[in-house]
Order: sequence, then C-alpha cells, then structure tokens
Amino acid sequence: MKSNGRRARERLMDRGFDPDHAIGDSGTTDSIDVATFYDILGRMAASEKAGQSPTYSLARLALRAGLPSEAADTLFLAYNQQSAEEAGHGDKVFGNAYFSMGGVAPGGEHSVFGEGDDVASVLNPRDDPSENERSLGITAARIGGIETFALQYLFPLVSKLCDRWDHPIGRDLARQIRDVVRPEESRHVLIWRYVFHRTIAPKGPARVDEYLQNTNAGRTQLAAPAFDRPTLERMLGTGAPTARQLLGKERVS
Ligand SMILES: [Fe+2]
Ligand SMILES: [Fe+2]
Repeated sequence: MKSNGRRARERLMDRGFDPDHAIGDSGTTDSIDVATFYDILGRMAASEKAGQSPTYSLARLALRAGLPSEAADTLFLAYNQQSAEEAGHGDKVFGNAYFSMGGVAPGGEHSVFGEGDDVASVLNPRDDPSENERSLGITAARIGGIETFALQYLFPLVSKLCDRWDHPIGRDLARQIRDVVRPEESRHVLIWRYVFHRTIAPKGPARVDEYLQNTNAGRTQLAAPAFDRPTLERMLGTGAPTARQLLGKERVS
C-alpha cells in the first residue's frame, strides 16, 4: 500500500508540480518543499473546517446559558457568523488551494483537532443554564487561544510561504488570507474578549483564572507557547467590544 505522502507527491506531479521544489532559499532552515507546503494547506483546510461545528453549537448554547438577552442574542449572531466563516476558510480558501494543487479535497483526518464532533457533543445544551454557561466559557476560551495563535503566527507564516513561492495559487491564497481570513479571524478574537467581559469577569477571580488557563490550553493544543498573565490581560482589553464590532459592521479603532 502506498503511503499518504507518496500518493500526495504523485498527485502534485500529475498536476505539474515538483514536490521537491524549494519554497524559499533551498538548503536553509527557512525553506520548505512544495510537498510540505501542500501538506500544511491540507491541515489548515481541515482544521479551519473543524471550527464550523463547535461554533455552530456555541451559537445555540448561548441562547440556553441564562445570559442577559442582549448578550445571548449578540453571541448567537456572532458565533453563527463565525461558524459560516470557518467553513469558508476551510472549504473555500485553504480547501480550494489544496484542491488546485492535487485534485482532491482535504479530508477531515487532516484536522489537528479531530473532525469537530467531539467538541460539538459536549456542547449539547443541558437543562441547567449554569452548566451551559460554564461550557460556553470553557470552549470560548479554548477557541480564543487557538485563534490568537492562528492570527499572530499561522496565517502570517502561510502568507510568507505564498510570497516566496511566487505561483498564481500562492498569490491568490495570500490575497484571500489578507482580505478575508485575517479580518474575520480578528473578529473571532473579539468574541473571546466579549465572552470574557460580559460573562466571566463579573463572576470573580476564580472564573477569570479559569478563562485564562483555558485560553492557554487552546494554545497548547497547537503546541503554541502559553501567554503570561499580563499579555492575556492586555489582549482582553478593559471592556467588551460592541455587537456591531463583533459582526463586522463597525471597525475596532
Ligand atoms: Fe478561521
Ligand atoms: Fe476563526
């Protein structure tokens, strides 16, 4: 049986790509080959897509978490929008770039988070609103941690590789990351801030600590370094973003 890596190389060659072609200065630690770049795109596509299901669940959980109605409504709309956007990043942006290079869709098994069902099942609403509020806080923090790393590190990394590759697929991908993915991800990080200020901070220091720990747990899932507390506090800011900012109807200054 052929290994996945071998099959991926064959698919690249069938489409006219040299899997060993170096992106960046060959021989330096800064350089990767086209086969590795292709693998990264598959992982990004599947991992972004895996964000669709838990955020869809969070939208519904927000309505059952005993929150003030304005916060519940805001979180429903924001998470619903995020769910659609994660599907777009997975399928439309990274998935289509991956497809263009090899002629197959990325599989859910490429996701670094599993296929999303495990997270989604713990987000099924329970009868007790306080349990739902707690699940919402835990998951919001973890997703926020993941997204801070994606925004600050992963997307810039892929954009840099695209620039060095200098191929139409890479140029198109870099443009979509700049124009679509990064602005949307910035708003997803605002949801992390909103949940903190509206639902966690009023409940006192123990819940605040838990939120910060779960944020770092999300980062650890990607093998990203944990943030220290001053950094987290600075990123969370001093107040909740507005509903219009969360939905992208108003810019954050
Ligand atoms: Fe995303
Ligand atoms: Fe996101």
